Amino acid sequence: MAGLFDKQAEVYSEARPTYPKEWYSKLAGLTPQHSLAWDVGTGNGQAALGLAEHYEQVLASDISESQLKHAFQHPRVRYIHTPMSISEDEMVNLIGGGHENSVDLVTVAEAVHWFDLPKFYSLVKRLLRKPGGTIAVWAYNKLLVSPDFDPVFNHFREKCIPFQNPNLIYIRENYRTLPFPFEGVGLSHEGEPMTLEIPKEMSFQGLMRMLKSYSAVPTAKDQGVDLLSEEVIKEFQRVWGGHDLVRSVKYEAFMLVGKL
Ligand SMILES: C[S@@+](CC[C@H](N)C(=O)[O-])C[C@H]1O[C@@H](n2cnc3c(N)ncnc32)[C@H](O)[C@@H]1O
Repeated sequence: MAGLFDKQAEVYSEARPTYPKEWYSKLAGLTPQHSLAWDVGTGNGQAALGLAEHYEQVLASDISESQLKHAFQHPRVRYIHTPMSISEDEMVNLIGGGHENSVDLVTVAEAVHWFDLPKFYSLVKRLLRKPGGTIAVWAYNKLLVSPDFDPVFNHFREKCIPFQNPNLIYIRENYRTLPFPFEGVGLSHEGEPMTLEIPKEMSFQGLMRMLKSYSAVPTAKDQGVDLLSEEVIKEFQRVWGGHDLVRSVKYEAFMLVGKL
């Protein structure tokens, strides 16, 4: 699994969106204390950096050492490599310094669908501070650009499906089917995530980097299929409106927030 993300690590940091600042202030408003936040599946720290504005310390963990090597640095963020083989007790030691009930906020951005969910949720339940500890998981799926562009992008996404890990069904279903055994807060609960938008200024080169960072792209290539052939790239360029155009685009995102 880590290998899948190792291959993408270099393009990932430039390709993927960061999340709106208001998301972090809203989440921080839900936790009575602000000592420790834990961003899991942090990648290059896309969410960890936002959390650092609100929490004294942010621990940001990932199974991929390569992703962490390309992570954005911040004095309040500590990156931790957590191999798949690590036990639950070892995780309590690493994240909680040996203490349960110690994490104010757990976030998982664009990653929880990769996890062994029963194991992960059992660990989260031990680590969250009681009362008040909060978990938020979110992801994004569709890119909304224009009536010309969107069908071409949707067609590309469909072509990716046979090369995707089966867990990505949770993303395709906008986390509506994702198990989330926490008491819903705000506008979401298990089965009914809230929908959000991530605005971004994107160049055509940025779009290409984003498409190349999809896990299906190298998987398909290994099987002799080029999802981003010259022909596909030309079609994207045509519906984008030209190679040099920078566009205001939106990702459609969805989030589940809960407490114990
Ligand atoms: C799509 S990336 C998301 C990265 C970042 N959070 C973001 O918002 O862009 C998914 C990340 O989850 C990590 N990951 C996958 N399975 C994991 C697991 N079981 N434990 C921790 N991290 C995991 C991958 O290595 C990868 O960095």
